[in-house]
Amino acid sequence: MSTLSETGAGAETVEERGAAPVAPVRGTRLTLRGATLGRPGAVVLTGVDLDVAAGETVTVVGPSGCGKSTLLRTLAGLLPPLAGGITQDGLPLHGPSAERALVFQEDALLPWRTLRANVELPLAIRKVPRAERRAQAGSWLERVGLTGHATQLPHRVSGGQRQRAQLARALAGRPRAVLMDEPFGALDAQTRAGMQDLLVDVLQGTGATVVFVTHDVDEALFLGDRVALLGSGGAVSVREVPRPRDRSAHDAPDRQALRRDVLTSLGS
Ligand SMILES: Nc1ncnc2c1ncn2[C@@H]1O[C@H](COP(=O)(O)OP(=O)(O)O)[C@@H](O)[C@H]1O
Ligand SMILES: [Mg+2]
Repeated sequence: MSTLSETGAGAETVEERGAAPVAPVRGTRLTLRGATLGRPGAVVLTGVDLDVAAGETVTVVGPSGCGKSTLLRTLAGLLPPLAGGITQDGLPLHGPSAERALVFQEDALLPWRTLRANVELPLAIRKVPRAERRAQAGSWLERVGLTGHATQLPHRVSGGQRQRAQLARALAGRPRAVLMDEPFGALDAQTRAGMQDLLVDVLQGTGATVVFVTHDVDEALFLGDRVALLGSGGAVSVREVPRPRDRSAHDAPDRQALRRDVLTSLGS
């Protein structure tokens, strides 16, 4: 298991790393109603209805090119719907906000800043005083198992470690929603599984709403409270994921039935 120990995302949990618990945020409710998504002249999805409840994790799964990133960018406020509505807690959502943090597959860390300085960014933006900023960033780095790498520049650490730093940076801003677009897509299978475990662990108790886009059905079933299947055109069908979510439940008959159902619906 050298890959897992290399990423530090192995068996050790946040609690075992001794990180202080975080005060939960109030998660946002995100709703799309009859929405047309895309850019003017390049409509990607029409008639999209989706309701993400406060504090839940919805995974969005669908084939490449079906519009997952378009949907996520819309929820982020980066791409206003061309028609229909988008609301946060029932109020129209206009433009990006620090309340909704984004994590992409591509490495979005600032290459000239150390991992710690990257994690401090959202705190600096919120004008958190320097000492407090340092303490909070240290605590998030601890939660994601990067304490020993705080003063490294991004190019000096592995892809998995960079993704963990991105996650720490996103959560350090205390967002009410975390929007993730195939964040583990570039990682090898073992690192990826370790990151999935880490994500569940780190998000535990934050209260944040999570929308997680993936084209990997197993990842979607492992991480989601509900899975939204995105068909081409804009049809969204949502499936409840049976509990418990842990890996040992992967072979349970109800989970396997859902997996087959999802794969069939996606036409794969
Ligand atoms: N910047 C853009 N301008 C125009 N069309 C785009 C742009 N980005 C994506 N598209 C098109 O929108 C469709 C959906 O893309 P995307 O949302 O990235 O899908 P996914 O994330 O599911 O792979 C694709 O057909 C893609 O070619
Ligand atoms: Mg995409």
